[in-house]
Amino acid sequence: MRVRALLPVTAAAGAAVLGYAGIVERNWFALRRLEIPVLAPGTGPLRILHISDTHLTPGRTRLQSWIRSLEDLDPHLVVNTGDSIAHPEAVGYLLDALGPLLRRPGVFVLGSNDLFAPEPFNPAYYLLGPSSIRRTEKAPDLPWEKLRDEMAAAGWLDLDNRRGKLTAGGLDVAVAGVGDAHIKRDRYAEIAGPADPAADLRLAVTHSPEPRVLDQFAADGYDLLLAGHTHGGQLCLPGYGAIVTNCGIDRERVRGLHRYPAGGPAWLHVSAGLGTSPWAPARFACRPEASLLTLIPRTSG
Ligand SMILES: [Fe+2]
Repeated sequence: MRVRALLPVTAAAGAAVLGYAGIVERNWFALRRLEIPVLAPGTGPLRILHISDTHLTPGRTRLQSWIRSLEDLDPHLVVNTGDSIAHPEAVGYLLDALGPLLRRPGVFVLGSNDLFAPEPFNPAYYLLGPSSIRRTEKAPDLPWEKLRDEMAAAGWLDLDNRRGKLTAGGLDVAVAGVGDAHIKRDRYAEIAGPADPAADLRLAVTHSPEPRVLDQFAADGYDLLLAGHTHGGQLCLPGYGAIVTNCGIDRERVRGLHRYPAGGPAWLHVSAGLGTSPWAPARFACRPEASLLTLIPRTSG
């Protein structure tokens, strides 16, 4: 009798949590500001805007507007770590959201969700293990080439298994990236080798923070490693944090700024991203985010 009496209360509480996660928090965008002491003395600061995992679909006008407002941060460089779209018509909406940011120096990699249209899945699977083991072999069915070509035409560097260099904020930046390691599209051998020691900054980009990739970037001397993919856990437990990372990185580094490897010379920043799969449109205790990384001189060395 007592259990039966509690059922309506439990159902109401569940509905409230779902409403909060799907309507409120999913649209409660946060800007994270971090300082990273990674530059040589006397150089910088360099402002990097890190965006990731927008998973844009038509109709997400609040997200589009928020992204467009990031231009006001006056970043020297924009880094997009992938999973930008989640709909065949989304490329135009993404370009519209990025707007003036596309006129700034930028780099990008693609994520698996830029290639493959989202499919229905039981959200509980998200808590059971990496999604790559669920994905069946199929040909890409989203306009990833259009996405890539439009960002490249704007001047952003495509870093899917590529190296390059650019100038941002008056600094020479050596850059490198890999294809989505989560679906084994990383081909590190094609970019392997020491990062340019003469550059003011050595920046590495990967969609998924897989340790096998991060280890190689760090060994090749990259100073700053940027990744997305994890969504910060997306559905987190207050006081505990992420339940899963959906990749090889540990729970402690599912989001935010850490040394890589622990105690090592490089810095790793993992973005919790701005969106979700349309089939799991909820975030809890893990607000959608973009990050303004202000690079400043090291305190020694
Ligand atoms: Fe994603």
